[in-house]
Amino acid sequence: MDIQEWEQRHTEAFHNVKEALPYLDGMFVAYNSNIDAIKHLSEEDLSRLIGFFKEAEIQERVETYPREINEPLDFMARLLISMREGKAAEIPAHTSDTHEWLKEHLGFDYARMGGQAGIISNLLSRLELKKVVAYVPWLSEEQAEYFVAADNLLHPKIEDGKVILKHPTEAFKPGIESKVNWILEYSKDLEVSCNGSNFKVPRDNRLIISSRPKWIRLEMDREVYEHLDTIFPIDGAMLSGYQMIKEEYEDGSTYKDYVEKSVKVIEKLKALNPELRIHVELTSIQDRIIRKAILTEIVAKHVHSLGLDTVEVANALNVLGHEELSYSVIRKEENGITSLYQGAVQLLKDLSLERVHVHSLGFYICILAKGHPLTLKEHRDSLLFSSTLAAAKAVSGEIENLEEVEAGLKVPISGKGIEDLENFKLYCTGRNLCTPDEFEYGYIYGADHDAVIIPSKVVEKPKATVGIGDAISAGAFAAMIARMKQKQERE
Ligand code: GLC
Repeated sequence: MDIQEWEQRHTEAFHNVKEALPYLDGMFVAYNSNIDAIKHLSEEDLSRLIGFFKEAEIQERVETYPREINEPLDFMARLLISMREGKAAEIPAHTSDTHEWLKEHLGFDYARMGGQAGIISNLLSRLELKKVVAYVPWLSEEQAEYFVAADNLLHPKIEDGKVILKHPTEAFKPGIESKVNWILEYSKDLEVSCNGSNFKVPRDNRLIISSRPKWIRLEMDREVYEHLDTIFPIDGAMLSGYQMIKEEYEDGSTYKDYVEKSVKVIEKLKALNPELRIHVELTSIQDRIIRKAILTEIVAKHVHSLGLDTVEVANALNVLGHEELSYSVIRKEENGITSLYQGAVQLLKDLSLERVHVHSLGFYICILAKGHPLTLKEHRDSLLFSSTLAAAKAVSGEIENLEEVEAGLKVPISGKGIEDLENFKLYCTGRNLCTPDEFEYGYIYGADHDAVIIPSKVVEKPKATVGIGDAISAGAFAAMIARMKQKQERE
């Protein structure tokens, strides 16, 4: 693959998408936002943390693979697992003990906007969209302060039984607490030694301890639901946070109630604008029952587009009954990318989607159902734009406007990504999915789907890794629907 050619395509795509974005009337973004307390772990931090426990006990706990954090030892075990694999994970904590323990024994470097919906709202606002309507069921006064102070960012507020749109700082619910998550970031090559085993961290990544206070409910206020027309005109919705749903609640309600409510919101959004496109951004979901319910009952047949990373593709396949494929995605051997592609195609089919966007370190794959109104070149532009956007965010931590996104063009394309794609080329041409020339363009033609594949820009030393996946998905999805509208209006 010609790296220069792909650099040139990134530049062109940036300008094409920049021209298309003003065609969007607005985007709706719900549900999860929280405050992220971010700590970058040094080798000293790590050995100090390990020192609070008996190393043999840590090892034992690692083997039980805790799926919830009930005490500090669970946290320590999951941190080591995440570092060993270099794999991101998000583990729920239902009590505040671990929060207190971390505050006392570790502390954090800084706090900023967290949660996929929070991060995506801020990002879209900075892409200078006409209107971004955020909705967070647990918007506290402190949380509201983390939204960018911009006129295009609004949140529904109930006043005298009516729903009006205001900036989040004027739309919060008084008297509610804030949800704070811990983000433990670590760098590649950090050396870890515990209970006689030594390893080097294979890549930059992080572990998230997600606080799940009892009062958190993933739902929309009745008034907002009833007057949902007030958030229009909007062309797209980006939904996330479903991982917050629990199997059972103390009042006897179950996940089924919350799944039903979630679907109703989606149905209502679509009824209000049949052209509307809906994207769900997945994340790590520990509870397998919930993971399956989200995929088969909320995503399947109701939404158009799904965004996820490699680990999430494997986890999704796993609960959908494709164990073997799931393992070969996770094992990441020579043919890892081939399995990833097959896995993404499987998700498109099983969940009846229009689009599945997988982001991996160094490349993105987007599987498309046949008959999409955009050309593969236009889809490729959307992906390339999001690669530039993510690079800009990784360099500076936060981007302020489109001009700063443009600076992402200076970040080089990942050599590793190009290499992975070269391996994949053999598979594609061998199966007649495309000619070698078509592959150079990033276009693949399956029997029942098409696909676009691009090498992406990767920042050597990112300022932060949290939220990069959200930026990729949001950038590409917004770019795609902007392009669709632009096309419609020109016809
Ligand atoms: C999840 C986490 C949140 C983090 C976000 C980044 O939503 O709960 O803490 O900011 O992912 O993608």
